[in-house]
Amino acid sequence: MKRIILIIVACIVLPLLIAAQDSSKFYFRSLPYLQNLSENEVTVFSVASKPCVSYVLFGETFELSDAVFASQHGQIDANRHVQKVKLSGLLPGKKYYYRVVSKEIKVYQAYKVLFGDSVMSDIHSFVTPHSDIRRFSFLTFNDVHSRPDFIDSVYRQNRDVAFICYNGDMLDDIYHSNEIIDHFLASSAASFGASIPFVYTRGNHETRGPAARELIDFVCTPNGQYFYTFNIGNTAFMVLDTGEDKPDTHTVYAGLADYDRYRTMQAAWIRSVTDTDSWKKAKHRIVCAHIPASRSHDGWHGSTEVAQKFLPLLENARVDLYLCGHTHEPVLETPNANHKFTMVVGGGPMRNEKSANVTYIRVDVDHNYLYVRLLTPKGEIINEYKVK
Ligand SMILES: [Fe+2]
Repeated sequence: MKRIILIIVACIVLPLLIAAQDSSKFYFRSLPYLQNLSENEVTVFSVASKPCVSYVLFGETFELSDAVFASQHGQIDANRHVQKVKLSGLLPGKKYYYRVVSKEIKVYQAYKVLFGDSVMSDIHSFVTPHSDIRRFSFLTFNDVHSRPDFIDSVYRQNRDVAFICYNGDMLDDIYHSNEIIDHFLASSAASFGASIPFVYTRGNHETRGPAARELIDFVCTPNGQYFYTFNIGNTAFMVLDTGEDKPDTHTVYAGLADYDRYRTMQAAWIRSVTDTDSWKKAKHRIVCAHIPASRSHDGWHGSTEVAQKFLPLLENARVDLYLCGHTHEPVLETPNANHKFTMVVGGGPMRNEKSANVTYIRVDVDHNYLYVRLLTPKGEIINEYKVK
C-alpha cells in the first residue's frame, strides 16, 4: 500500500506541484529578437510568461544611457505577454547596445495595479545598415515545418550574415500561439535574433489553423503587411505573400479564404513599387517569396496565380534573383524561358521523409554580382551561381 502511495506521489502529485510552481514563475519565454532593422530604427520584441510591462535600455556604449517604452494612444503598452519596443532616431552604420527589462503585472484593475517580479535580458548589440554598403551576406531557410534545431548550427557556420530570411512554412499549421513561440521565435532569439533580424515571408501552412491570425503579433514589417520592401545599401528587396496553394473555394477553407483578391492587390502594389526610383536605381533586386514563380509549375492554383499575376511583373521589373521554397525539392535555375531571373528553391524535410532535402541558401552581395549557393545543413554546396 505504501508503495502505491509513493508511486502516486512521484508520478502524479509531484509533477503537478512542479507544474504549478513553473506556471507561477515570471520569465522570458522568448529572449529579445530584432525586427525591421533599418538605418534609423529597429523594433525589439520579447515574449514573457505572464502579462507585463517592458522597456528597453539602449545606447552606443554598455552604459545604456536611454530608456524607451512603447506607448500609443497615451498609454504605455502593458498587460500583454508580447512586448515590442521601437527604437527610433538611430544613426546609419552604428553599433548599439541594449537590454530588455520586463516587469510582471500581477493585478490589473481599473483603480489598482500590482507589479510582481522583474526579468532583465543580457546586453546585446546590433549594427544599423547604411546606404553605402556594397557587400553583405544573408541566409534563407524555408519549409522548416516546426523543426528549427539545425538553424543554429548553420548560423554558427555563417556568423558574418546581415540578416536571416525565413522564407515560409517555418511552422506547421498553427493551432496555438505557443507553437509560434516554441517552434519559431524562442530558438531564433536564442541563436541569432538578438543581434541580427529575421525577415519573415509567410508560407501557405502559416495561413492555416485557429491561431494563424495571431502570427502578425509576433513580427514587424515596414508597412504592417506580409508583403513589403526594404533596402540594404545597393540592393532592393521585395517580400511577397504568395498565399494559399488551393483555390479559395476549396472546402478545407470553409469560405474563409480570400487569396485571389489578395494576390491581385499585391500585383497592383508590385507595379507601384517597381515604378519607384529606389527600385529602379538599385544595383541588385531580390525577391523573397514562398511559392516559386515559373511558367513551369505544379499546376496547383497558388502556383498558377503566382505565374499569372506576379511573374510577368517581376520579369519586367528586372528582378535578378527570386528565392523561394514550397516544393521541398531543392533546385537552382538560371534564367530561362520559364522565368527571366535566377530562381533558387530551397529544400524541405517532409517529402518522402528525405532528410537529405533539407537545405539553406546563402547569398553574398557584392557591388558587381550576387553569389548564391544552395547548401546542405553541413555546408556542402549542392549548387552555386554568380548572378551578373
Ligand atoms: Fe509550402
